[in-house]
This record gives sequence, C-alpha cells and structure tokens, in this order.
Amino acid sequence: MSDLLVRNANLPDGRNGIDILVRQGRIERIDHHIPFNDIPVLDAHGNLLTAPFVDAHFHMDAVLSYGLPRVNQSGTLLEGIALWGELKPHLTQEALIARAMQYCDWAVAKGLLAIRSHVDICDDRLLAVEALLEVKRQVAPYLDLQLVAFPQDGLLRSKTAWTNLQRAMAMGVDVVGGIPHFERTMADGAESIRLLCEFAAERGLRVDMHCDESDDPLSRHIETLAFHTNRLGLYGRVAGSHLTSMHSMDNYYVSKLLPLIREAGVAAIANPLINITLQGRHDTYPKRRGMTRVPEMIAAGIDVAFGHDCVMDPWYSLGSGDMLEVAHMGLHVAQMTGQDAMRQCFDAITTTPARILGLDQYGLAPGCHADFVILDATDPIEALRLRPVRLYVIRRGKIISETPKPLAKLNLAGRITEVNFRK
Ligand code: FE2
Repeated sequence: MSDLLVRNANLPDGRNGIDILVRQGRIERIDHHIPFNDIPVLDAHGNLLTAPFVDAHFHMDAVLSYGLPRVNQSGTLLEGIALWGELKPHLTQEALIARAMQYCDWAVAKGLLAIRSHVDICDDRLLAVEALLEVKRQVAPYLDLQLVAFPQDGLLRSKTAWTNLQRAMAMGVDVVGGIPHFERTMADGAESIRLLCEFAAERGLRVDMHCDESDDPLSRHIETLAFHTNRLGLYGRVAGSHLTSMHSMDNYYVSKLLPLIREAGVAAIANPLINITLQGRHDTYPKRRGMTRVPEMIAAGIDVAFGHDCVMDPWYSLGSGDMLEVAHMGLHVAQMTGQDAMRQCFDAITTTPARILGLDQYGLAPGCHADFVILDATDPIEALRLRPVRLYVIRRGKIISETPKPLAKLNLAGRITEVNFRK
C-alpha cells in the first residue's frame, strides 16, 4: 500500500491536467494542482490515466494452448469444442498454471487488472478448477481473477456436470455458469437455466452463462434467463455472454426482448474478436456479422461489456490480452464510430465490466483503490485508435509495470524526423 502523487493526467471523463493524491493505496483526492512535498511524484505529462481494463469474459484454462494437440482447421466453434475435448485428458495442473500465469503477466503489462474467467468443470478430475484457484491465489496481489463454473459439455447433456458444478462452487469458484444453447433440446436449455438460477439465488451468487452463442434466430434462452432473473430477484447479478442469436432475431421480437432484459437487470457481454470469426460461418453471402446488438442494448439501458474470450487457444489463434484491441474490433463490428459511441466502447472494457463483476472500490474517485493505467494517448478515442503502450500500470499506488514510449526515427531524403502517430 503506497503513497503517490500523480501529476497532470487526463481522465476518461474529459477532465484534463488533473492531480491524484494516493495515500495507503487508495485515492485520497482528485483535483487540479494538489500541493505536496513528502511523497513520490509521477508526472503523467498530460497522458490519459484510466482505471484498469477489465475483461468480463475469458477462458484461462485454455489460454496459450494453441496447436495442442492440433490446430483448429475449420475455425468453427464446434471444431474448437471438439479440440478442447481432445486436449482435456492430457492437461496437467503444472501446465495449466504455467500458461495462466504467463497470460496474467501479459495482462498486467497491458493494464488489464481484473478478469472473469470461465473454467470448464466437465472433467471429473476438476484439474482446471484446482489450477485456476491456485492462480487466483498467486495473482491476487496484482490482479483480480473471478472464476465461473462452466459446464462446457452441457449441464444436463453431460452426466456429471451438475455434480461437478456443485463441487467446483464448494471449492471456491465464484460465479455460476451455463451453456443452455448446447443442451440437447430447447426444453433442456430452459431447464438448465432454471436449475442454475435457483442454485445461485439460494446461495447469493452471481450468474454468467454462455447464452445463445448461435446464428439461430430461434435460440431465445436470453428470454428465459431474464425471466428467472426477474422471478428470483437476481437483479444486477446475472450476465448473458455472447447472445449472438440476437443479431439474427426478428426485430419485432427484439423490441419486446430488450425491455425484459432491462427490467431484469441482466447484463450482456459481447465478445467481438471471437464472434466476428465464428458467427455467420454457415452463410454464403451476405454473411452476418453475428455480434449481439450492442448499441441497441446500451440505448435500452442494459449494461454491455466487451470480453476477450480467447487468446491462442482451440477457438482463436490470435490475441495478446489487450482490451483496447477487443474494443477496437467491437466498435467496428457494431459500427459505433460516433464520438459518444466510441466512449461507450471504452466504458465497455473499464467501468461497465467492473460493475458486472461487482469489483469493490473500482474507479477514479476518492476512496477507490489507487489502481491506474497511464497510456501513451490523450483521451479514450486516441487510445482506441492507437492501442498504445501502457506507460505505467499502477496497483494500490505502486508501479507494477512500465513500458517505454515507442518512437520511430525516420531518415527521409536527408530529413530526420520522429513519428509516434499522435497528432
Ligand atoms: Fe466463452
């Protein structure tokens, strides 16, 4: 828990030239020109200072396993699930922990200090659960890792998933997961939602389900999720991840659905990098983009976050833990290129997922944890445009990562100049 005075920062809300006084790892004061002599000073030089990036949807048990035991040739969701099934029997706890720890290092360097990761509970050994609980313990000083018990093979479709899910929750997993569109029938999907929501309600837990990750416009499990959330009083504690079928739904039906989701306080988590590659795979032309209806949901008052979902795993061969890359893709796919819309995309990787995860004392206000990222950019829109280096990543007032500013030095027909892509 450190003391620090950050000078001359620009904040995401548009305030410029701001000082932030940190005492004992918490923000004590935010103002113009805070006088202080006896504590370390960090000059932000007019760069953007934001609360850390938050990833609301990830799979840390699969991260960095690309090519094990083979590459996904078709690039489809179903081959990815099959490939993960081939890999599962060969997983070891040591390898799971090593890959996850390596990814957490990448995340910190990118200013990503809170991750909600699903963990597959369909392997009866629950190796991945044990491994990620250990990772959670090890990274706790610098990264908040929240775990979701995820029945990848279907809660009712897999013989042991329901028992394993309860075992995982007893071991210390935080959030109840599900995958209703992967159950054998629509009825089973609905039944899995009822069981999981009741389980969460009885224990005061949060819920985050993979929901309607499909191009089928009749995949309407989000309606059932909103219904049980409302019925059980789980307002603000439930998220639907992906929701890609909404892209293909009938507009009239969606006009009824959005107010139901809003009424229930169900949040949406879109995963633009993965869903722009996975959805519309069965289309010829025109090809659907497949991502859920992000701007329409935001306009309806629904919390929408962007998640990374996958980095170098059976489903996605790219990625580096950079949430600005995620939001950059999200704003393109959703055509959210207006100034306000781009700022909403920045919120979708910072404040909105922090709210969905229920992070304590997150934000830029007195009393909040002194967790910041200072970027080589002036404001959120420039940050989205450049996806620049994270000059400083600060946790509880202490610098935990530094990246030097890149500068290209050009020699053009005798004219020596430097380029950093900032106006
Ligand atoms: Fe996922």
